[in-house]
Amino acid sequence: MRESDNARMFSKIASRYDLLNHVLSFNADRGWRRRAVRAAKLPSRGRVLDACSGTGDVAIEFARRSQQSAVVGVDLSGGMIGVGVEKTRKAGVHWVEGNVLDLPFGPGCFDAVTIAFGLRNLIHREQGIGEMARVLRSGGRLVVLEFAPPGHGLFQRVYRLYLRSVVPTIGALLSGDGGAYRYLATSVGDFLEPELVLDLMGAAGLRELCAEPLTGGIAYIYSAEK
Ligand SMILES: C[S@@+](CC[C@H](N)C(=O)[O-])C[C@H]1O[C@@H](n2cnc3c(N)ncnc32)[C@H](O)[C@@H]1O
Repeated sequence: MRESDNARMFSKIASRYDLLNHVLSFNADRGWRRRAVRAAKLPSRGRVLDACSGTGDVAIEFARRSQQSAVVGVDLSGGMIGVGVEKTRKAGVHWVEGNVLDLPFGPGCFDAVTIAFGLRNLIHREQGIGEMARVLRSGGRLVVLEFAPPGHGLFQRVYRLYLRSVVPTIGALLSGDGGAYRYLATSVGDFLEPELVLDLMGAAGLRELCAEPLTGGIAYIYSAEK
């Protein structure tokens, strides 16, 4: 999928995106995002970039936790940002419509960078991680929250079935766009195993690499330091 198609797809589902996240994850996504924000260890009065920020749930969590921090959300999709802007009017998030593969910030600008459910959608993941590492200051932290492809065992088999059959059906019913939710299922199934995500982070020169499984390994929080 090209970047313009990606942005168009997310703009189409933007108004129902949050609802579907909460319904399809049985609300687990809220806790996952909170844990990802904690993993960023943002200093007070810190500067954080939330890449592929979408409708801004991670950015809002940063702004809520630390009102003295500067929180920037960047996303390609005008539709997703539109919903985010409405939600963050009081939260003080700065929004930038831009591409994570070519971030409009200088080197070392941020104390932390997060990307939640965005790495999977990047067309050039290595380049995306490289860009996020570039805008981190030395000692700053990169946190990636992302689904993992279903593994083996009973729970994982049930998860695979849920992803293939239930997610596209409920997605189509509630968002009117079955294609977007078929894409979600396929992109999770085809995504990198956790070790390979860590390899990408290591290849970008990051260290102290860590992968923390969430909810039986459905999703992971990856963190690293520059
Ligand atoms: C699954 S959503 C995740 C949104 C949000 N981070 C969350 O936690 O729900 C993926 C987002 O990545 C954005 N995106 C995809 N490719 C991008 C790129 N190259 N640069 C910036 N944003 C991108 C999409 O527009 C979409 O809003």
